Amino acid sequence: MTKSTLLEIDKSEACLGMFIHGFGKQWLSSPFALSQFKLTSPAELKALRESSVSTLTIDLSRGIGPKNGTPAKPKPHQNQGADNGAAAMKQATEMVRSLFGSASSSTGIDRQKVEAVVDVVDQLVFTRPTTILNLTKLKTKDEISFQHSIAVCALVGMFARHLKLEGKLVRILCVSGLLHDIGKLHIPTAILTKNGMLTAEEIAVMQTHPRKGYEILAKGTGLPDIVGKVCLQHHEKLDGSGYPAGLKDGEIVAAARMVAICDVFDALTSIRPYKKGSTPETAAAMMATWKGHFDQMLLNKFFDCMGLQSPERRMVANVSAQTAHAADEMLGLSQADLDGFQF
Ligand SMILES: [Fe+2]
Repeated sequence: MTKSTLLEIDKSEACLGMFIHGFGKQWLSSPFALSQFKLTSPAELKALRESSVSTLTIDLSRGIGPKNGTPAKPKPHQNQGADNGAAAMKQATEMVRSLFGSASSSTGIDRQKVEAVVDVVDQLVFTRPTTILNLTKLKTKDEISFQHSIAVCALVGMFARHLKLEGKLVRILCVSGLLHDIGKLHIPTAILTKNGMLTAEEIAVMQTHPRKGYEILAKGTGLPDIVGKVCLQHHEKLDGSGYPAGLKDGEIVAAARMVAICDVFDALTSIRPYKKGSTPETAAAMMATWKGHFDQMLLNKFFDCMGLQSPERRMVANVSAQTAHAADEMLGLSQADLDGFQF
């Protein structure tokens, strides 16, 4: 694909058959979970026209141009975006509170509750991706953990779909994103909610949360092993400077590398009582400079997914798209993981 195949158009020119390449800086206003896809349904077209997006970029090599098609009139009964996102978000937050509350007892994780939360988040991602990301940006002190978990679940779900992973893998990654910080249940609240810098001692306590989470998930949840691995490895870095084990490169499963990216992106863009959130562009620029931290190929794919550009993007522009089968291996999933996952 060359740049000459990309064309910026006004949303009023959009029509069925066009391939949407991105929304530029307006990605947060996009009503879609994916930033790159072919417009094929009147419902999608209607959602685009009713959104606050003003312009979009189309790829002429993968779909029709503005002069080749007649704008289609969406069918009125196919409006899928009229749900109350705020109410669903509140419901999801309460469900995560209940899920985490039960996990702090000796019974471990309730798999049915996990499924129910992922269903609600999934529904929000499909109908109101803007809503879920905006609502999870503003985290109140007592709900930071819950809403961060929801945000990472939503982000990694979008990311997985952008990578064209098949449904079961997307689901496993959503569960992994939801539960990645479950170990923080065993970190003292005074440390979790401290506004100032943590002491070296407090940092050491905080850094026990991946292992504590892994132990919670190892109690026989019926969830795939990969969910526990993601929990254990989401703070590892490719250069070996992460924790708890200082794993390097291929020792870190790709699912954990994906969740690590979503985890940090949400943390940087979140508004907290004690800090402003970075813009998505600033967060992307910061993350691109942290050499040795993230999987560079996945990071650039994530930027693509979010409609963000990075100076590093050109370096991996020729990386071929992963097929679903290759993605199974890339994620570090075993056949047993897949066989045992019946969502
Ligand atoms: Fe964490």
